[in-house]
Formats: sequence, structure tokens, C-alpha cells
Amino acid sequence: MNLLTTEELASLVDGLAGLPYGGEAVDQRTHALQTGWYAARAGADDELLLAATLHDIGRARPVRAAYPGLPHEDAGAAFARDRLGSARIAWMIGQHVPAKRFLVATDSSYRALLSPASIESLRVQGGPMDAAEVAEFRARPWSTEAVLVRRWDDAAKDPAAPTLELPAVLAAHTRLTNA
Ligand SMILES: [Fe+2]
Repeated sequence: MNLLTTEELASLVDGLAGLPYGGEAVDQRTHALQTGWYAARAGADDELLLAATLHDIGRARPVRAAYPGLPHEDAGAAFARDRLGSARIAWMIGQHVPAKRFLVATDSSYRALLSPASIESLRVQGGPMDAAEVAEFRARPWSTEAVLVRRWDDAAKDPAAPTLELPAVLAAHTRLTNA
């Protein structure tokens, strides 16, 4: 397996700087590190912290180039499987879009938290899950964590909010790689 080096991870995250995030007020790098900050505050383990920080890594140019034609959540999941060697991170990244469809279907207060850009993309993503999809999602072993990633993702669009420092992300990656 061609695992990602720490240097490659650093340049991947730094390469998100200046990359627009839909109609949001933060760029992709800030969004990633804010999502990671919420994960760290919640006491996430290394895999969960990396899944949160890298949930949109499928939008990074090198990842898009490696997995052309895939939706960003699937490209990110493939990247996590191939380059981080973690099925759990891959699943959580791949599910951050379905988790939004799950939350809209199951939490009546959730839709009010979504930004206008996120409400617009929900339509394209298939709208709320139906009852069968909700049951199937709930039955998956990491669905609770995928929902947490989604909630941190939604909160991480504020230019004034704190961000995780990149070294904390790299340290989590180093521990994962050496485990
Ligand atoms: Fe996101």
C-alpha cells in the first residue's frame, strides 16, 4: 500500500488554502481545520479527527486528479482507503453527504442550521432519506460518528471560529501510521 507521508498530508491540507467552499465564507483549508477543531474539542480519537478534518479532501486537486469523475465524498473515501489505509475513515468521509440526508429526515431542528448553499446542495444530493434509508444508515457500525462529522462540518463555516493547528492533524496521522 502506498501510504501517505506526513509531508504529503501537510501539502495536501495547505493546498486547500484559497480554494473556495461553495458559497461559504471560509476557504477549504479553514473549513477543514475548523471541522477538525470541533472533533478535537469533542475528544475524538485519531481516526475520527482525521475523518473530520479530511471529510472534503475529495475536493483537493491532487485527489480529484487521482479519482476522476467521482463525487467528492466518494473520491475522499477512496483516498482514505488507499492512502490512509483506514476503512473507518473512508466510511465516515464517504458518508458525510448521506449523513446530511439522514439528519434532515430525523432531526426537525437540523434543517434550520444549514446554510443556503447547503440547502441548495441537499436537493441535488437527493433530499431527505426515506424511512428505509434511515433504518439502513442507523444499522451501520459507524453511523453515529458519521453524524458527528456532519454536525462539525456544518458548524465549520464561520470565518471567526477557531481552527485546529495543522501539527495536531499531522500528529494524529503519524500515530495512525505507526500504530
Ligand atoms: Fe464540508
